[in-house]
Order: sequence, then C-alpha cells, then structure tokens
Amino acid sequence: MKRVLVIYYTQTGQQREILDRLLSPLAADPGVELTYHRITPAVDYPFPWDGHTFFDAFPESFLQLPCELAPVDDAILQQDYDLVVLGYQVWYLSPSIPFNSFLKSEAADRLLRGKPVITVINCRNMWVMAQEKVKRLLHAIGANHVGNIARVDRHLNHVSVITIVHWMMTGRKDAYLGLFPKPGVSDKDIAESNKFGIPILAHLKRNDYSSLQVELLELGAVMIRPVLVFTDKRANTLFAKWAKLIRSKGSPGAKARRPWLKAFNYYLLFAIWVLAPIVSLLFLILHLPFLSFIKKETRYYKSVHFKMPR
Ligand SMILES: Cc1cc2nc3c(=O)[nH]c(=O)nc-3n(C[C@H](O)[C@H](O)[C@H](O)COP(=O)(O)O)c2cc1C
Repeated sequence: MKRVLVIYYTQTGQQREILDRLLSPLAADPGVELTYHRITPAVDYPFPWDGHTFFDAFPESFLQLPCELAPVDDAILQQDYDLVVLGYQVWYLSPSIPFNSFLKSEAADRLLRGKPVITVINCRNMWVMAQEKVKRLLHAIGANHVGNIARVDRHLNHVSVITIVHWMMTGRKDAYLGLFPKPGVSDKDIAESNKFGIPILAHLKRNDYSSLQVELLELGAVMIRPVLVFTDKRANTLFAKWAKLIRSKGSPGAKARRPWLKAFNYYLLFAIWVLAPIVSLLFLILHLPFLSFIKKETRYYKSVHFKMPR
C-alpha cells in the first residue's frame, strides 16, 4: 500500500476541487491510500473578505510571519507517508499566511523531511516569486521537491484583477455584472487536472520521481508568462518596503496601521492600473536583447530546482 498525505489550505474551496480532480487517478487505485489534512488557522481568515481585513493580511503575508494553527492529528504525525502533496494559494506574491505558517511548523518538519513533495499552486496568475519562497522553505526542511503544478486564471491580467476582487469581496465565483468572465481557475482547467494524476501515480508506484516534472511539463502543468515574472520581481522589491513600514506601526488589527493600510490600498490601485502597464510596455521594448536570459530563467521557474538567492 502506498500512502499519500495531502496537506492544503483553501478559503473558497477551489484548491480542494483542484486537488480532488488531480488526485482522482490515485483515489481510484486500490493500492493507494489518500489522507487529507486541511491547514486550519486558530482564527481563520474571513471569506468573503472585507476591504480592511484584506489589506491587513498584507504585511504578515509578505513578511512570511506565521499565525497560530490548529494541531495536526497525531494519527497523521505518526504515519510514514510515501509522498506528500502540498496545495497552496498565493497572497501578496507570497505563500498564503496559513500555508507559510504550516511550512514553518514542527509538524511540517516531521512530515516533510526527506519525503518526496509535490506542490500544487492555485492563484490568480502571479505565483513565481511565491514559489521561490516555498522552494526555499522546502529546502530548509530537507524535503525532496519532485513536482509542481500551477493552476491560474488565464484571462488578461487586468480582467482577472477585476473579477477576483468581485469574488473575494462577495464570495460569489460568478460573472461580475454579467459581463466579465468567471473569476479564478476555469471549470475546464479544474476538470482536466486529472491528467496530472496519471504520471504522479506511475512515479509513486516506481518510487522514482526523477523525470516526473518533465512529464508534468509536457502535459502543461506550468505556464510561465515572462512579463508577469518581470512585474512580480519589481513588485516584490516595492512590497518589501511597504510591508516593513506597515508592520512597524503594529500587529494585525492595530489601529495605528489603519491609515498606512489605506495608503497601501491606494498605492496598489496606482501600481496595478498605472505602473503595471508601464512595466509591461518597458518589458516589451527591452526584452529582445535579453531573450536568451529570459528563456533560461523560464526553464528554471518551470522546474523544481532551487537556486539560493545571492
Ligand atoms: C489576501 C489575498 C491576496 C492575494 N494575492 C495574490 C497574488 O499576489 N497573486 C495571485 O496570483 N493571486 C493572489 N490572490 C488570489 C488567490 O490566490 C486566490 O484567492 C485563490 O486562488 C483562491 O483559492 P482558495 O480559496 O482555494 O485559496 C490573493 C488572494 C487573497 C485573498
């Protein structure tokens, strides 16, 4: 019997839907036992969000400061798993607070050290730098990162900004004003996620994951848009300054943070609607001489290799 542990967080249920579909070939195999653990913060984050709480999650998301979590069941901690699948979402270009908190916990150390680990990302579209942060934590734990699948909203960047705000603030994954496309990962992409479960099952049975990521990539597990990577990197530099500044005013909920969170809210609107188009234009103009560098970088971000940043 092969034992697979699936650890995930979700607010809207999208992450769980993707995992269920993706792992359906494993669930259908009598030789595989799947165990799910939903990461549960001691005080969970609200869904739908309200404007203030949404921005109040920014400093701790970006600075990767953990929150308290409900303990993992002893039965899970005592089991020896053959493979661990981690499902997470991106908050502010970083792993979400619940998922980051799990990776920094003793339970993660116990469950992931020396184990083959597959990451499954679900987000709007900007996940590459968040995944570098996750790779770094997995590397620190001593996990063996063997696969990565990223499911995103494929619509235009600015369209997905509008539709995700509608989803996050109302709790409804439906067409905003009846005009916009549905937010989040499309029903088609969720439904087709089972194709990735087939090579995962084969590698699990062989207990050899050396070519798993190459096979997942052939099936379209990861799509990299270099312009989004370029924006992600620039935004990380600016977010670092904002996060430190707001955190210096107090902890989550502190009154002294409110005016700074409001300022960050306006800054973010400016960044998305004014700066990001300029950055995209700059990228379009400047990228040609850097084509071979961009290709090399794209190959790296598609892979599960980890290069420690200098
Ligand atoms: C506070 C917050 C910040 C977010 N930041 C990002 C982001 O930086 N990049 C991105 O692609 N998606 C971002 N998202 C979208 C989430 O990844 C999205 O909520 C998630 O895919 C929903 O699935 P879940 O309910 O299973 O977590 C953010 C969402 C929230 C709530």
